[in-house]
Formats: sequence, structure tokens, C-alpha cells
Amino acid sequence: MKALTPASFRLATVLVVSAVIAILGCGSGSSSPPAPVDVDSDLPLPLAAGIAPTPPMGWNTWNTFSCNISEKLIQQTADAMVATGMQAAGYQYINIDDCWSTKDATGVRADGEALVPDPAKFPNGIGPVADYVHADGLKLGIYADRGTLTCGGFPGSEGHEVQDATTFAGWGVDYVKYDNCPPSPTPSAAEQESEYQAMGAALAASGRAIVYSLCAWNFYEWGVSLGNLWRTTTDIKPTWDSVVANLQTNQAFAAYAGPNGWNDADMLEIGNFTTPDQETPDILTQYQAHFSLWAIMAAPLILGNDLRGSQMSAAVRAILTNPEIIALDQDAFGYQGVQVWTDGGDLSVWAKPLNASGARGVVMLNAGAAPADVTFDLSQIGLRDGSATARDLWAQADLGSFKQTFTRTVPATGVVALRVNGVEPLRPSGTQVYLSDLEWTYASNGLGPIEKDESNGASDPGDGTPLSLRGTGFTKGLGVAGPSVAVFRLAQSCSTFSAQVGVDDATKGGGSVVFQVWADGTKLFDSGVVTGMSAAMPVNVDVTGVRRLKLLVTNGGDGASLDRADWADAQLGNCM
Ligand code: GLA
Repeated sequence: MKALTPASFRLATVLVVSAVIAILGCGSGSSSPPAPVDVDSDLPLPLAAGIAPTPPMGWNTWNTFSCNISEKLIQQTADAMVATGMQAAGYQYINIDDCWSTKDATGVRADGEALVPDPAKFPNGIGPVADYVHADGLKLGIYADRGTLTCGGFPGSEGHEVQDATTFAGWGVDYVKYDNCPPSPTPSAAEQESEYQAMGAALAASGRAIVYSLCAWNFYEWGVSLGNLWRTTTDIKPTWDSVVANLQTNQAFAAYAGPNGWNDADMLEIGNFTTPDQETPDILTQYQAHFSLWAIMAAPLILGNDLRGSQMSAAVRAILTNPEIIALDQDAFGYQGVQVWTDGGDLSVWAKPLNASGARGVVMLNAGAAPADVTFDLSQIGLRDGSATARDLWAQADLGSFKQTFTRTVPATGVVALRVNGVEPLRPSGTQVYLSDLEWTYASNGLGPIEKDESNGASDPGDGTPLSLRGTGFTKGLGVAGPSVAVFRLAQSCSTFSAQVGVDDATKGGGSVVFQVWADGTKLFDSGVVTGMSAAMPVNVDVTGVRRLKLLVTNGGDGASLDRADWADAQLGNCM
């Protein structure tokens, strides 16, 4: 039997006392047990400051129109965004992708040569287009490229970063998507990084607040401190398989997502699988799933369909404006949902904490071709054992309460999307509380689950070795594999957090990571790069008043190989 912590002892005492009162008939007549008292009065947190506190929402030309773009298309789309109610639903960026400029006769821009909008497509230039979009209450995005040529063969910004950022700011551009062509010869990682950084610095110095969208087709850790969103995937296609593939790729980087910096699983293909007249119920189910999965992942919602007139069906419009799915995406807590269960095949459950006490977003996915039952347990979504209520976000209907597990038949290539309200894990309690004796409310890990009191071995649970840093063993702690994040609910109960951090001896000197400790969006500790040769580093931070403690381990900028990292002896002090 588990020892009672002081807090659970208090709760047990309340329950026993009320049971005795009920048996003795001294109560008020109601036989229902008292509700748990352990409510977070400290949630919700306020929206973060910054240019992209929640994932950007908007539209982009590329998925439907490729290079067939024009001033008229942008104006009509901006007007449609307003008229269809999509602006009111939260979409605000109208983004021009590749092919908006003229090609350079010589193929390479001369020093100081400006980008020139194609006069056939944009006869009045881009500035008046920005004015038009702004007059609709929307914002304008544009596309550029870190190399000499864009992917469509138009001039790139290499060596012209300051000039182009200044031009964009002068036109009134609010968002820049920065592409990664030409793909060959393949630029070195260092070259890509410095070219993306050059545009980032130029935008920051441009005098205008501009969202910076990195489109390097891959996750790079340097992008995290640079962009407001960064593509983690290759180009999406208008197929179910492509949606699932981008989901799988994007999930690996959940640890890095948060306010003002989002993993971009690529633009939406909702509305693009077929023409509107060919939209079967099965395709609409897939669209609902695509939207739900991007929302649970807190992915940017950049539409890729034709919004104008009959080109967008009423059914697609209803999907794209569902306020409860949009709220799931835009939740101000900013966590990227993670897979908390899978059958190893087509069935899985994804979850994230939402910015209210006991609230979780949950998406049950059936990626296969036949309907199937999917079940999750409250412990898998970071809630306390007992009962909870669920709301179906597509039906926009309350489903009532359930005990401990929730089962639903999920349609083929479809989802059930829920908001679950239960009870947060107990507050830590005691003068010394090891994190490995608590349940986290959210975790994502580079290889299998985070391990308690042992190192992270491979992908199976419990397959590590005793925690060991430069020959010193530790009986308590967390063993993780970068990139990794674990979030614990402190609920303003504790005063200190301490640990010894380092790369576990199991790597025999290999691996490199960075350890960071975050408190409600503020960074309290950063180890800098720590390798398998570095001495264990002590962490001692004040966590007074902290609601959520986030332990982050990055890949150290060099990929995740051998990044077995230990939060050895990780403990909270003076928890009330
Ligand atoms: C790349 C990007 C796409 C799109 C095209 C334009 O493929 O990944 O999103 O911008 O270039 O050429």
C-alpha cells in the first residue's frame, strides 16, 4: 500500500469524517461525498505577451493556387475571410506564397537589386495589397527564401536580407515565410542557420512587428529561438496519408512548442482532397480529423483551400470555424498535445493540459479503414483517478460524467475530440518531495517514456540502468532522452527545486543536451550545453508561487543521438 502524503491524508480525513457524519445521520441530508477541495485558484494563466502568443491562424496561396496568384485573388480571399465569418472565428493572416516577384534576367540578383512584384500579377505592387488587406482588418504575409533562388526559381534573399526586410516592412507586411531553396547543392547546416539568422535579425531591425515563419522542411533546434513557427515536415499533400505522416513527424518536437514558438506541421489541406461536389461524408470525417489533430498539436492553422464563393462548401466552412476546435488549438497554456496511448497501429490517443484547472484536450484517433473502439484512462491524460466529465467538441455537446476510463467508437480515418474536466493531481506536500514520486501532468520524451529512478534506456518502459553521473550513483531522479519535457503541478505549494543534472554514464561519454527549468513561462535555469564528459551540475531554484514547473531537455543543437539525460535527485522543498 502507498504511504499517505500529508495532503492525501488530509483528503482521506475529510472523506472518513464525512462518511461517519453520513452514517450517524448528522449530515444535512445529502449523502454525496464532498468535492475534492484541491482546486487551482491560480489558473487560468494570462495570455503570454508577444507577437504569436497562440499559434498563428490565416490562409496561404500555395496549396490551392501554386503560382496562379494575383492582386485580385488576395483581395477576394480577404473579403471572403470576412464574409464567411472566418475572420470572426480567429483567422487573420492572408499570406502570399512563392511566385509573386519577377524573375531575374541573369538568374542572380546584383548588389542592391530590389525584389520587384510581377506587374502582371500585382500591377499596383504589394503595398496597396497590404493596405487592402489591412482595411479588412486582416494582416498580410509574404514569402521569401534564404538562398539565391526560391523553390519556384524566383530571386531569393541571400545577401539581401536587410534590403528585403526593409522592403517588406515598408509595404506593411506582417508575416514572412522563409523557404529553404535551392535544395541542391545541399547547403551545410551552418550555412542554413546563418542565412535564417540573417533574415531574423533583419526583420527584428525592420521597425515593424513581423511574424517569422521558418520553412526549412525539417526541425532544427536553432529555429526555436529564431522563429515564431518553424516547419518540421516536408510538404503536405491533399491526402489522408500525408496528414497522418505530418502528424507523426511533428509530434517528436512537442517539447519545444509554446507561446511565440510553434511547431508547424504545414498548411491545412481541408477542402482540398476533392472538389466541393465530390465531398463524401468520409472525406468530411477526414477533414474533421485533420483539423482536430492540428488543434491538439497547437499547430498553426494556415488554411490552404479556396475560400471564395461556392469553392468552399458549407460543410468545410463549418469545420474550419468550429469554435471549440479552434479554442483547443488556441489555448493560452500553449502545450502541444502528445500521444499518450497507441495500440502500435492505427489507434491512438492524444492529450494536452488546457488553461483551466482539471481541463484536458483529448483527441482519440482512428487512422485505419474500419471503425474501432478507443479507450483512455484518466491517469494517461494527467488527471487524478476518479471521475470526470467530457464534452464532444464536434457535436458541441456535453457527454456527462464517466468513471476512470472513457471509451468511444471512433469512425474510420476519423477522431473523437473532447474537452475533459477532472481533478488535477494532488499538490506536492512535505518538506522534501522527489519528483519521481509525483505524477506529471504532461510529458514528452525523445525515446519511450521518461523513467523514474533510473536512466532512459531504449523505448520500453523500465529498460534503463541506475542513474549515474561521472561515477556517482543516485537512487532518485528522472531519466529522460532529449528532446524531453515534463510538467509538474506545484500549485504554488513549494519553495525550492533542486537536482543534479548531467548526461548519464550509460552513454560512456557521448551525448550533449541543455537542461532548462521553466516556471509558468519564465526560464529559471539554463545549463548551457552539457556533454557526457561534463561534471554533474547542481540546480537550485526558488519556485515560490510557481504553478507549473517545466523541466526541458533539448538536444544540445546536434541531434538527439545518445542524449540520455538525468535529473538526478530532483526534488521539491518545503511544499505546504
Ligand atoms: C516549398 C515549401 C512550400 C511552398 C513551396 C513554394 O516547397 O515547403 O510550402 O512554399 O516551396 O515554392
